[in-house]
Amino acid sequence: MLDIAPNRPDLPPEIARRRTFAIISHPDAGKTTLTEKFLLFGGAIQMAGQVRAKGEARRTRSDFMAMEKDRGISVSASAMSFDFKNFRFNLVDTPGHSDFSEDTYRTLTAVDAAVMVIDGAKGVESQTQKLFEVCRMRDLPILTFCNKMDRESRDTFDIIDEIQENLAIDVTPASWPIGVGRDFVGCYDMLRDRLELMDRSDRNRVAESIQIDGLDDPKLAEHVPAHLLAKLREEVEMARELLPPMDHAAMLEGSLTPIWFGSAINSFGVKELMDGIATYGPEPQIQSAEPRQILPEEKTVSGFVFKVQANMDPKHRDRVAFVRLASGHFHRGMKLTHVRSKKPMAISNPVLFLASDRELAEEAWAGDIIGIPNHGQLRIGDTLTEGEAIRVTGIPSFAPELLQGVRAGDPLKAKHLEKALMQFAEEGAAKVFKPAIGSGFVVGVVGQLQFEVLASRIELEYSLPVRFEQSQFTSARWVNGARQAVDKFVEANKQHIGYDHDGDIVYLTRLQWDIDRVVRDYPDVRLTATKEMM
Ligand code: G4P
Repeated sequence: MLDIAPNRPDLPPEIARRRTFAIISHPDAGKTTLTEKFLLFGGAIQMAGQVRAKGEARRTRSDFMAMEKDRGISVSASAMSFDFKNFRFNLVDTPGHSDFSEDTYRTLTAVDAAVMVIDGAKGVESQTQKLFEVCRMRDLPILTFCNKMDRESRDTFDIIDEIQENLAIDVTPASWPIGVGRDFVGCYDMLRDRLELMDRSDRNRVAESIQIDGLDDPKLAEHVPAHLLAKLREEVEMARELLPPMDHAAMLEGSLTPIWFGSAINSFGVKELMDGIATYGPEPQIQSAEPRQILPEEKTVSGFVFKVQANMDPKHRDRVAFVRLASGHFHRGMKLTHVRSKKPMAISNPVLFLASDRELAEEAWAGDIIGIPNHGQLRIGDTLTEGEAIRVTGIPSFAPELLQGVRAGDPLKAKHLEKALMQFAEEGAAKVFKPAIGSGFVVGVVGQLQFEVLASRIELEYSLPVRFEQSQFTSARWVNGARQAVDKFVEANKQHIGYDHDGDIVYLTRLQWDIDRVVRDYPDVRLTATKEMM
């Protein structure tokens, strides 16, 4: 057994066994393949390949994603739960496209740890770097998986150096690869002094694990060719001298990441990584909130919405709010208070995302993700409690960096367009502003690609062809301040004023100069680039 003291031995066992995490990676590094193997070893699917081949129903449901698939991106995040040994894993999928999106950021507010997947030949790529920075903002613990070791990859020390330098995080090898590319035979488990051998004949078979007594054990020579063994001994000795040892506390505070080497497609190294998540990955963490923080072990249930997805099933115009439970033991049928509206809500048909199917959730615990179907009452950032007026904090909304006007292909369908836009705004897929003067809407996104995704979703889900066009505005800022000062500001700047889907006031402009002018001329008004969702 590994010598690790549980973080929080006082937690109820059901909570202590939960591991809620996300995978961060650059497209093509192997996130989908790794997810599939997680599910395979978690017993959630019988055969690898099921995650991709989702059957007709699923395919039609996600047709709009065809475009994203063509480009190797996935926009819709989902959550999956499965068991591994005596742990319950909740894997929250992060959208992986190259435009940084708020969705990605918010997904990472719902997890306690992240698995960073890198391609052994490519090292740290741009998207990984960006996502890593987001994890760093929250001090999320990170476990690293260096994938595709069955191909020609970089020197192990180089990979580790690159992570340490580019991401400014200490790296400790949890395993050490033996051979490279075609010569890759497996890994030496640095934490447990075991030899893990890869089976190339069956991609879904778990590697053989051979207990050995350190690097001098003669048994090693029976399994590892002599030239690789000499190199392994030398490298491991160097690694132990030069690299920091595993330090659980440092990992939990996000300053050190253990790295496993493997090949997801060959199911190699995946179980060791899962063991690592179970052993080191943190249990549900304390949630920041106002006026007080929420402890996972509290008796009463609380949770917050970090994502809303509409039209998951085209037959029902439902929306599913993804709720991360922050505390307590939830039962189906419970009445929870929707803190923003102060109204009670009976949660009668919650869903748990077990592998690729949705199932009714009878119960769930702090750390779990449940889906609550609703008609739009639940919005991103909302808190649910058993009555107490607590508001989870730290779920931001960013000012969009790109603005465009939008018009329905058929002018008679303007009302439909408004409905579609409002829905996407509530889902958090875009910002929609209604200018105070004139008609039409200004849509704001963080990355250019989102316009295309939106246009294709509006067309698919609302049968409404739309055109995005240049807008006279390029920036939006939320307007804050005392009522009187804001009213006076709005009155004097009507042509720049708009309202977001919550009715909050925004200042729309083309020029940084305008923003500077407001700062100078209206000291009582504050323009902000983020708004905390509530
Ligand atoms: P992503 O979700 O991060 O974008 O990556 P994904 O798992 O889709 O993997 C990207 C490509 O890398 C896939 O090949 C996949 O088969 C391959 N791959 C994943 N893990 C490994 C590995 O351990 N070793 C090797 N050699 N390849 C790996 P593809 O040709 O794009 O797709 P497919 O035709 O295999 O489905």
